[in-house]
Amino acid sequence: MIGKLTRMYSYVRYLLSARTKYGIHSPFVYSLVTEVFENHQANADTERIKALRNRLKRSKRVLEVTDFGSGRGNKPYALHFRTVGNLAAHSAVTPSRGELLYNLVNRFRPSTILELGTSLGISTLYLSTGNPYAKVITIEGCSTTSEVARENFAEFNLTNIKMLTGRFEDVLPAALDQLATVDFAFIDGHHEYEPTKNYARMIMQRVTENSVIVIDDIHWSAGMEKAWKEICSLPQVKVSIDVFRFGMLFFREGLSKQHFGIRYR
Ligand SMILES: C[S@@+](CC[C@H](N)C(=O)[O-])C[C@H]1O[C@@H](n2cnc3c(N)ncnc32)[C@H](O)[C@@H]1O
Repeated sequence: MIGKLTRMYSYVRYLLSARTKYGIHSPFVYSLVTEVFENHQANADTERIKALRNRLKRSKRVLEVTDFGSGRGNKPYALHFRTVGNLAAHSAVTPSRGELLYNLVNRFRPSTILELGTSLGISTLYLSTGNPYAKVITIEGCSTTSEVARENFAEFNLTNIKMLTGRFEDVLPAALDQLATVDFAFIDGHHEYEPTKNYARMIMQRVTENSVIVIDDIHWSAGMEKAWKEICSLPQVKVSIDVFRFGMLFFREGLSKQHFGIRYR
């Protein structure tokens, strides 16, 4: 209840302060808004992923999932039974946010993409099809969920995805060792203050000035808002953009350090 109220308060604050494209003076951010954020054209890839998500939403297949966010006692995780339908409806990116990921990847053409939190692989499909030439590494802690993601990748015949199964805290260092640079990262799991800050800092050791990092659920809790603010203030970050559900970080030399709250549908 308190969490919901905090999020509602954050949303109202965001709506009151977020700019439209008319209030943006940075040419880099203006072109991002007009050419990427406002590009709502469906294409064969995004339509196919949307159709898969709708099909999965109807699935009654039951999975025993390992949930790393709600451990009890001395266990850092809990086991729950959830249907694939429930995961597709509540954990996967919505078509609108998936389209934004797709368009970002399509625009920046990263050679390497790193994702934390695969779940059923819906966001991974947007990232991977957005640039089929990229090497994609995605990490998921729950082995039963990652089996379904693997089936989805096979259905799309995608050969550019490598999935690592394990806890982010254990697997991320090895994943980073496989990437000379991280050109695009999507952090979508373990939405807590310390872990989010740590993952972002670790990834930032491999970014170049053309890299992009997207963090999901930056207003999920007071801890996530604190982590987001502190990450934005790191000297390496040049431009940070808040579209409420996502936060985006850019590292380009030549851009003056600036933060933007921008309305996104
Ligand atoms: C919101 S879901 C990801 C949704 C996915 N990106 C999509 O949009 O289709 C978050 C995932 O992160 C995984 N996760 C959370 N904390 C984790 C951790 N510490 N290590 C590994 N996986 C974790 C969960 O098992 C869950 O599947």
